[in-house]
Amino acid sequence: MENRPALLLCPPDFYGVEYVINPWMEGNVHRANHELAIQQWRAFADVLQRNARVELALPQPHLPDMVFTANAGVVLGGNVVLSRFFHRERRGEEPHFRAWFAAHGFEIHELPRDLPFEGAGDALWDYERGVLWASYGQRTELEVHPLLAKLLGVEVVSLRLIDKRFYHLDTCFTPLEHSYVLYYPAVFDAYSNRAIEQRVPAEKRIAVSEIDAVNFACNAINIGAKIFVNKATEELKSRLVSAGFELIESPLDEFLKSGGAAKCLALRLDEPVPATAHALSTIESRVLQIEGHLLDSGLLDRAHELTIDSGGSFRILDFTLGKQHQSTSKATILVAAPSLQILEKINAQMIDLGAVLPDESIVDAELQTVVQQGVAPDDFYVTTIYPTEVRVNGRWLRVHNHRMDGVVVIDGEHAFCRLIRDLSASDKVVTGTLGVRTLRKMESRESRRSAHADEFGFMGAGVSSERRVELVVDEIAWELRRLRERGGKMVVVAGPVVIHTGGGEHLASLIRDGYVQALLGGNAIAVHDIEQALLGTSLGVDLQRGAPVRGGHRHHLRAINTIRRCGSIRAAVEQGALTRGIFYECVKNDVPFALAGSIRDDGPLPDTQMDLIKAQADYARLLRGAEMILMLSTMLHSIGVGNMTPAGVKLVCVDINPAVVTKLADRGSLESTGIVTDVGLFLSLLVQRLAA
Ligand SMILES: NC(=O)c1ccc[n+]([C@@H]2O[C@H](COP(=O)([O-])OP(=O)(O)OC[C@H]3O[C@@H](n4cnc5c(N)ncnc54)[C@H](O)[C@@H]3O)[C@@H](O)[C@H]2O)c1
Repeated sequence: MENRPALLLCPPDFYGVEYVINPWMEGNVHRANHELAIQQWRAFADVLQRNARVELALPQPHLPDMVFTANAGVVLGGNVVLSRFFHRERRGEEPHFRAWFAAHGFEIHELPRDLPFEGAGDALWDYERGVLWASYGQRTELEVHPLLAKLLGVEVVSLRLIDKRFYHLDTCFTPLEHSYVLYYPAVFDAYSNRAIEQRVPAEKRIAVSEIDAVNFACNAINIGAKIFVNKATEELKSRLVSAGFELIESPLDEFLKSGGAAKCLALRLDEPVPATAHALSTIESRVLQIEGHLLDSGLLDRAHELTIDSGGSFRILDFTLGKQHQSTSKATILVAAPSLQILEKINAQMIDLGAVLPDESIVDAELQTVVQQGVAPDDFYVTTIYPTEVRVNGRWLRVHNHRMDGVVVIDGEHAFCRLIRDLSASDKVVTGTLGVRTLRKMESRESRRSAHADEFGFMGAGVSSERRVELVVDEIAWELRRLRERGGKMVVVAGPVVIHTGGGEHLASLIRDGYVQALLGGNAIAVHDIEQALLGTSLGVDLQRGAPVRGGHRHHLRAINTIRRCGSIRAAVEQGALTRGIFYECVKNDVPFALAGSIRDDGPLPDTQMDLIKAQADYARLLRGAEMILMLSTMLHSIGVGNMTPAGVKLVCVDINPAVVTKLADRGSLESTGIVTDVGLFLSLLVQRLAA
């Protein structure tokens, strides 16, 4: 019986639910039945003793979770890496387990103080694959993984846990004999599921249902063909039997009240490591610096959130707090990710928050040459709305023609933003995120809060909805007057709802009065405006009476037909066929317009550009130099325009649907305002305010 595995257990003398450090403990404080817990543990220990050599740690008063020995450390081939508990409540266990391992001749490794790691709860050895599956995201810090690889001399595969109920890897994942893996996929992020699928073929993956997962069926001890668990459904049992296993249930529900079961109660002490094992971890990390009103404007929170949401880990190495109201704070951050690809993704978002590499590690941007026209090299840097600089030959170059969703092309001493389709073979394109930075306006302490107040102004406490709109419209009117006085450029993007809501006459008057320098839209705004001008209806509805006109549905097509007969909107104005309305005013006042086609379009009008690449170019041309853009009730065209517009241009988005306003106004830039209201009312109020 000498090849029986060795397990460390700790009797539950002081076990109880004394505090809450996981969702299972909520509502269970002082509710564990101590007698029953002891009975369940004894029965479980007896079963294990028949199959393994059991060692015991001495339980300690006031350390109720010491019974969960799996969290003492991870043991591989005579080495133990001790845990550094995430929660203060469990840190008292550390010296006792340390003493036990020292007394039993293990080589002890300790991690730096500030790096949480919870032992075999978060690190499971897979002998047949020769890899240590290690998790992060709940209790263990990702940065621990490369240290485990180095200290234990093994390959570590990092998996991220995203469900608080499954706070340790061993609550939802167990490597089994014959290369099987028993696991609950729903609690891993997509990258981690891919990592599992790449290493474990489908026929070896035993995915459990939620019911088995919450009964801790994956919290299993596997010895030879036997699997010891709290309980499992008949369905899981029969799958395991057909894979050649025998499932042995031992009720442990008193321990489930603390969020632990079979595997948590035992630590394997003698896992063998094959001689061929070698240290390997794909974890990549980078130090970044960020400066600004980091706390008040929420910048640091956002940096933290985006790192965690993207699957990385985030640690503040240094923080200097700005002490005066206007002085800024500075943080040095270590960002780690399970792969270079994820690190680059996080870094790209960090750059948008204004993060930079520390001076000593700044390098030139990486460049790759385009080999196929209209196709960028892999890993090309994707531009965002923020003005950007790239470092080439030790100098920072400002990117010209900046817009979002472009690539950066370096031509000698100049950097340009281009769309992928416009790339030529031999263009040099920036790849990765090194040597790239964005220039952000300093966010004020209040800006973030008030940006949200704008979007959700209607729900704002103490301000009535009408009053809120009036205030915002006053501000817009004030800016429009100033813009007109200094000869600035304001562009309107408008959808057909402007006409249906009676806003057409107001938009026409803005054009007539010189507030609009270009108009963008689709076929529909023009058709409806012209139908209204020619026949007094919009889609057959009489706007004066708000009622459909007999045979009115034909009006729409008659309007299109009239313009087609004249040749164009301009020609219709010149021939006297079109005498009023938005597009009449555009022609009369030399305000250029561009109409981009869509699959919904009737006609279309001769002016509607149905070649979308040409339509995009028309939009881009008319948007050049714009200082303010008024987006009026068109999701399609507003989003298109938003994508072409760099930060620094003031965007005002008016839509009845708050979700559309949020999508358009929340670009993370400071200059956008969203107004949730009827566009007809908005335009009428704006014209009134301008006249006042
Ligand atoms: N007959 C035609 O040729 C025809 C007809 C309709 C649309 N189209 C084309 O289809 C494309 C998309 O059309 P779109 O821009 O109308 O649709 P869209 O879905 O992009 O936008 C309509 C927006 O108006 C908002 N809205 C609705 N009522 C409102 C109100 N009272 N006040 C403020 N906002 C309001 C909606 O929430 C929505 O966001 C365009 O290119 C358009 O030209 C063509």
